Amino acid sequence: MDGDLIALVNKLQDTFNAIGGEAVDLPQIVVVGSQSSGKSSVLETIVGHDFLPRGSGIVTRRPLVLQLIHTQSSTTGTTDHDGYLPDLSAGHGGPYRPAGRSMGGATGIDYAEFLHINRRFTDFDEVRKEIEAETFRVAGQNKGVSKLPINLKIYGPGVLNLTLVDLPGLTKVPVGDQPTDIERQIKNLVLDYITKPNAVILAVSPANVDLANSDALKLARTVDPRGLRTLGVLTKLDLMDAGTNALDVLTGRTYPLKLGFIGVVNRSQQDINLDLPLDDARRKEEEFFQNHAVYRNISHRCGTKYLAKTLNSVLMNHIREKLPDMKARLNTLMGQTQQELNAFGDATFLGEQHRGSLILKLMTEFARDFVASIEGTSLDIST
Ligand code: GDP
Ligand code: NA
Ligand code: MG
Repeated sequence: MDGDLIALVNKLQDTFNAIGGEAVDLPQIVVVGSQSSGKSSVLETIVGHDFLPRGSGIVTRRPLVLQLIHTQSSTTGTTDHDGYLPDLSAGHGGPYRPAGRSMGGATGIDYAEFLHINRRFTDFDEVRKEIEAETFRVAGQNKGVSKLPINLKIYGPGVLNLTLVDLPGLTKVPVGDQPTDIERQIKNLVLDYITKPNAVILAVSPANVDLANSDALKLARTVDPRGLRTLGVLTKLDLMDAGTNALDVLTGRTYPLKLGFIGVVNRSQQDINLDLPLDDARRKEEEFFQNHAVYRNISHRCGTKYLAKTLNSVLMNHIREKLPDMKARLNTLMGQTQQELNAFGDATFLGEQHRGSLILKLMTEFARDFVASIEGTSLDIST
């Protein structure tokens, strides 16, 4: 099963995390674009919850590595999702929605956890406040940017396993405490994430700026010249000048990307100020495309829901391609660990030995599941 495959990759990640190291380059979806192009907004709609700091100007000042973790157990209802979004049609904004923005209830999320703080969060407003506080703590009060990522995990039956990375926007002119070479620094930071050959690049460009000036596409092209792992996202379609439209971009006639371009309409700043719920914003977005004189004919492949679906299949194909390589690396690591264990002899009371056993146990368990899952699919895993 496809879903199991993704779950396994997440397990692999946890295993290697437990060992202490980035032993395997796992697929991650990385959001890239100029400042205020709508990156954080896009990420939020993909997750289906409202928890990222966003707004005009420089808001995202540290990378946010967001791991969504699907859990089975739930007292809250169905888990039959076809994307990694919570079921968009389930009416989460209905009459049973709990007051405030607490998780649980109809949201399909149990809790969130940061790596830097030993506490479970069950309220999205608090998650956002913590991201803000942690941003200030490390990147300062005055528009500074830091490479140091914030790691956040979100657990629940309403998400599918997936890692997403939100990044500071590409910018040219230093402001506040930013150093004179801020453009280069942010570029390098973004490159750190998108250069990895298995990163899926979500290149976000605002539709109200000429695509020829898109910083996202320019940078994506330097690491993915053939456009094989870059998905174009066109935001702010609602803000284009009257009489203009982006049909040529959306139908692939302007800029070649194998994965294509998907148009979205996120919440405007006014929507955010008025606290427009995400569900209402999605309905508004759907109506926008369905009623638009030009986009009506392609509305089935526009919008957030379609973006989520596309990302899901992109990710699955990606993981499939990487499986043989992951298996080979895992085997190598297991061989090394076994050798180290042998070197310790039988003194099981030694602390080091204990740690080694734990690692081997984790790996063996993982490998067993891994092989079982592969056998359950029609993948060719001969290396
Ligand atoms: P980021 O800096 O790239 O992360 O962009 P944000 O997600 O923080 O969004 C910047 C501003 O643009 C916010 O005020 C958003 O409300 C607004 N915005 C983002 N996407 C859209 C869109 O599709 N339509 C409209 N009208 N505003 C948008
Ligand atoms: Na912004
Ligand atoms: Mg942002």
